[in-house]
Amino acid sequence: MDVLILAGGLSHERDVSLRSGRRVAEILRDRGVKVQVQDVDTRLLGTLSSLADGVVWPLLHGSSGEDGSLQALLELAGVRYVGTRSKAARVAWVKPVAKAVYGREGVLTPDFVTLPQSLFREVGAEQVMDAIVARFGLPLAVKPARGGSALGVSLVTDRSQLSRAMVHCFAYGDNAMIETAVSGTEVAVSVIGTGTDATALPPVEIVCDGPYDYDARYNAGRVQYYTPARLETADAARVTEAALTVHRVMGLRDLSRVDMILDHEGRPQVLDVNIAPGMTETSLLPQAAVADPRDIGEIYEGIVRAALV
Ligand code: DAL
Repeated sequence: MDVLILAGGLSHERDVSLRSGRRVAEILRDRGVKVQVQDVDTRLLGTLSSLADGVVWPLLHGSSGEDGSLQALLELAGVRYVGTRSKAARVAWVKPVAKAVYGREGVLTPDFVTLPQSLFREVGAEQVMDAIVARFGLPLAVKPARGGSALGVSLVTDRSQLSRAMVHCFAYGDNAMIETAVSGTEVAVSVIGTGTDATALPPVEIVCDGPYDYDARYNAGRVQYYTPARLETADAARVTEAALTVHRVMGLRDLSRVDMILDHEGRPQVLDVNIAPGMTETSLLPQAAVADPRDIGEIYEGIVRAALV
């Protein structure tokens, strides 16, 4: 079995993707799988056309990797690949659209609004920000409508921080999603498989000494992870069910990770879904895989074999 891992790309998450690619390659090679790692550059089409019986694993995070465009290319090239298909990827990539889809299926998600940057120019930034605070109160979260690894994300606890948060957010895209900041236990649940065969890995609890931002995610030391999460059995069952529901109703395949807050009433409030979750040493899915009764290599090889069917 030949596996072609795609890693790198041109998004803001290029470095994370390269680390994810290297790590997954190491784990698969330890299982005796033949693995090639390729960046997304001018050689890609040539490499794809010479991939006879293999399978592609796109470990590309962010735009071009998670927005469905690379998946559409792989479909056009007629190659087998790991992960969610282009149509579902396009939906999952835009946070407010994804929230609307799984929210419609009864999955709780914090209240939100999406605002284009142009509105701030047309109406006046101060008026828009006053309206945001009047509508959502504080604290609130400001996030780029598309993106990952918490890039461009700010937690706003005071009105005076909002202007800076909006500027930071619009550095990553033209649309901002403003969301009520829910407090509780931060949990991530990774899902492996497709449709009714999908299963969840143990929930991971995230305890951070500040915002769970890019720096905290990819540098050891600022975050304490508990795997499995320190949850009552009923709470663990609810977060697991929420992740499986999101994976199913969004039509996701092979692997995903659902990030949520278990609020003080014990309700999972889903924040985000990732179709190409980070696979670095400090990422959440690998930590969950290590805590699973199966071996991490067995899980990754199973993901690849499922894509070959
Ligand atoms: N977007 C990054 C890779 C993650 O969520 O893990």
